[in-house]
Amino acid sequence: MSEANEIDEAGTDQKGSGAARSFLSQYLSGDPPPIIEDPYSVSIEDINVIDGRLFQRDIHWNHFKRLREEDPVHFNELPGIGRYWSVTRFDDIMFVDKNHELFSSAHGITLGRRVGDESDPEGLQFSNFIAMDPPKHDLQRATVTGVVAPRNLAKLESTIRERTRNVLASLPVGETFNWVDRVSIELTTQMLATLFDFPFEERRKLTRWSDVATAPPGTGIVETAEQRREELMECLGYFTRLWNERVNTQTPGTDLISMLAHGENTKNMQPFEFLGNLILLIVGGNDTTRNSMSAGVLALNRNPAEYDKLRNDTSLITNMVPEIIRWHTPLPYMRRTANQDVEIRGRQIKAGDQVLMWYVSGNRDEEVIERPDEFIIDRPNARHHLSFGFGIHRCMGNRLAEMQLRVLWEEIMRKFSAIEVVGEPERLRSSFIRGITSLPVRVHPL
Ligand code: HEM
Repeated sequence: MSEANEIDEAGTDQKGSGAARSFLSQYLSGDPPPIIEDPYSVSIEDINVIDGRLFQRDIHWNHFKRLREEDPVHFNELPGIGRYWSVTRFDDIMFVDKNHELFSSAHGITLGRRVGDESDPEGLQFSNFIAMDPPKHDLQRATVTGVVAPRNLAKLESTIRERTRNVLASLPVGETFNWVDRVSIELTTQMLATLFDFPFEERRKLTRWSDVATAPPGTGIVETAEQRREELMECLGYFTRLWNERVNTQTPGTDLISMLAHGENTKNMQPFEFLGNLILLIVGGNDTTRNSMSAGVLALNRNPAEYDKLRNDTSLITNMVPEIIRWHTPLPYMRRTANQDVEIRGRQIKAGDQVLMWYVSGNRDEEVIERPDEFIIDRPNARHHLSFGFGIHRCMGNRLAEMQLRVLWEEIMRKFSAIEVVGEPERLRSSFIRGITSLPVRVHPL
């Protein structure tokens, strides 16, 4: 869900203009500023929740707690990145998200670059509708949204169920394996292949492109900006071939590529706009759902009484799914840019300032959500969370994601008495994607 050539958090450099590069290279060169493990040990101005290392170590919770309590609209400024505000309370996040006239998406959805910054050394100028304002946003969204409309989803459910059963049946009973790779990635990738009508045997390319698009050079996925560019150009080339095969047919297919190729508002997209929107759909449908699939297993293992509740009553799955999505919050924040001066809780946000809506914090706001740190599968009003955002950019795939998770848990409960976590999870160094990269488990058949 990233605009792939942005800087999206301290510690990741997705573009690397001048000063930003020098700031970020500190993180990448092995000489990063010290990590603030205990937010109560420093003065409040020194707290900077954009640091991806906090999320990698899963120690960001108290940072946000302190901000919610003492400085809910918190200011930071970084060289090359500029002024930005962290909004951490539920109601304030809703206010920003719902007021797209005041807060624009068109300057980027992750911290850092401004659209139109010509110093992009990679020369990749993506654009996609998550990073647009009306009217263009509305027109492009309207073109593709049908693919996840309830009627289409109902048609997809049996395919998803069959694929889920096959994946679960292939798991090695009696062995320790990585749930992320064998289940979460595999299932979300299969789903994406279905949505794009992408050659099934090559579906892992989609996972790779999603990772390359969101991971900055030098952090393990790709080593250099050049490599990243080459791989994304390969992605563009591949999808352009699919587009060309499908654009001239009399009866367009119902897959996403056909929808884009035939849609009034998308058929004349420039290549980088096409690539940008592909990446939006690949990442949107990939990382988020993938991480929710892993997070559910982790949450139930950390809360065995909830797992027992589920064993006693599997009809709770429908309610558990939004609770997993709240508890994990796969996308910790989205950025907006103030179109004009705005005051929130007495803080003066200036026109042009960046505003980060920290969903991951709003979802733990004790003023709105009771016992927010607890994972409660029969929580009343479980769908009242921020993980899908609000307003005109509210997640387009939210129903699809919920359905995938529901089907997965229905099938898990039919087959296994427990998915047992047998080691510590490993997490992504990112404050934009809350990723679980490894989760060692053993499965126990019923
Ligand atoms: C648990 C899974 C998911 C989570 C937590 C999630 C979260 C989000 C969030 C936070 C936003 C931005 C909302 C805002 O700015 O107000 C968003 C937008 C979006 N999501 Fe998702 N998402 C998920 C699954 C999916 C799936 C499966 C798809 C694939 C179809 C998808 C496609 C999109 C698209 C296209 C947008 C842009 C919408 C717009 O700008 O109008 N998402 N998502």
